[in-house]
Amino acid sequence: MKQILLSAISLDLKSKDPLHRQLFLQLREAILDGTLKAGTRLPSTRLLAKDLNVSRNTILAAFDQLMAEGYLTSRTGSGTFISDQIPDEILTKSAKKENPQKIDRHFPLSSHAAALHQKKASQVYHGGPFSPGTPELEQFPFVDWSRLLAKHWRRPKRELLTGNPIGGSRDLREALSDYLAQTRAVKSDPEQIIVLSGSQQAIHLVVRAFANPGDPILMEDPGFPGVRNTIIGAGATPIPVPVDDEGFSLEAAEKLAPEARLACIAPSHQYPLGPTMSLPRRLDLLNWAKQTDSFLLEDDYDSEYRYTGRPLSSLQGLDTDQRVIYVGSMSKVMFSGLRIGYMVVPPDLVDMFLSLRRDMDGHSPATVEPALAEFIREGHLSSHIRRMRLLYDERQQCLLKLLQDKCGDFLDVKPQESGMHLVAFLKDNIRDLDVEAKCKEDGLLLRALSRFYHGPKSRNGLIIGFAGTSKEHMPAHVDKLQQHLVTLNGGKT
Ligand SMILES: Cc1ncc(COP(=O)(O)O)c(C=O)c1O
Repeated sequence: MKQILLSAISLDLKSKDPLHRQLFLQLREAILDGTLKAGTRLPSTRLLAKDLNVSRNTILAAFDQLMAEGYLTSRTGSGTFISDQIPDEILTKSAKKENPQKIDRHFPLSSHAAALHQKKASQVYHGGPFSPGTPELEQFPFVDWSRLLAKHWRRPKRELLTGNPIGGSRDLREALSDYLAQTRAVKSDPEQIIVLSGSQQAIHLVVRAFANPGDPILMEDPGFPGVRNTIIGAGATPIPVPVDDEGFSLEAAEKLAPEARLACIAPSHQYPLGPTMSLPRRLDLLNWAKQTDSFLLEDDYDSEYRYTGRPLSSLQGLDTDQRVIYVGSMSKVMFSGLRIGYMVVPPDLVDMFLSLRRDMDGHSPATVEPALAEFIREGHLSSHIRRMRLLYDERQQCLLKLLQDKCGDFLDVKPQESGMHLVAFLKDNIRDLDVEAKCKEDGLLLRALSRFYHGPKSRNGLIIGFAGTSKEHMPAHVDKLQQHLVTLNGGKT
């Protein structure tokens, strides 16, 4: 018995794990995998300490833990035994961490999940040079942010620990309501604001609220894949509507799906092509929604960054019939790791949305909300945005010049009035997906434009983020892009 036990144990003096913990884990494993049988008497702690060359306290600490968890029992006068009370199903399961075996089996998945099951999931949400939508992260005012976080956590209020109201803390909803009124002319009572974990969640809630399986839902083409995937996930039918220089075209939409009652659009800065929806189109859309009892999801994901032209206020602010669900995000104006977005919903839909949200994930973590409310109230958010707007403007101009100078033979690229990325159309027959793959090998996370098309026609181009990439690093990155373009063009410049 002693030999079996000793052969099951090998202690590592250099390990970060204390010896008693190593001993506990190894003895537990030997019990669980049956090496040490139930009812077996263990050698005395003194003997074991001598054989293993460790202190007796180490053995006692490990035995105490095993005793407390029910693996060992002690009988006064007769010693310590492996418990015979351990349930069989625990005994047959090894405590070892093993790579799960691949089992050949059929999953009764929904058709949407079955399609996803065929592909490898992308594990990264954002980040990396040229990644569209990634803001500048180094220059965030972390000193102010951490001061506010610390202030609220030194002696946290009870509601921080018990959890938020479903729509978010009152303070944050009030701060957002004022901020959106000033910056985006959004009309809202704080009660109409629902704080979410990202604006992607708003897209889920709106689609869930308005679509039954099979229902057509209008979306922009090209458009944000998060919209299309959510519509398909809900069993509804995405109707990709071509976008032109004035944005989403209602005329085209009415031909494609006259029965559709929800349109998901980004009127301030169409994603990814970038046009701002003209005022006549906005008024037409609002009128259509009123006449047909339809609703509009306004994704206002990065409209804070406008460099030229007159800023148009939100569609929601123009709406006189409460037909718009306004959606915003902190991912671009702060950082996406925060996972905070929000929606502003018509007053008579607040309760329905709160119930949907509660059923989805309860509420967002209360952790950062008080700090964020104050960050907005004290003006830190606005001044950060103002600084970033100047920086991104410079970065856009720098990237534009580099692309035109170095890659002008391959790319047709023009300045953008707003946003965080450039759209570069590929002139030659080089496939944008091939450029994306080559650049990814170098860590450059630009995206192929064709990925964003969901209808019959698509264009070949590159979506290149400039906001999160410093001017100092841009020339080297553009050189790499140029090399890949030359290679993919068969070596011809
Ligand atoms: C157009 C658009 N809408 C919505 C989102 C979702 O943003 P989040 O869920 O991070 O708030 C993104 C993210 O990149 C986006 O590009």
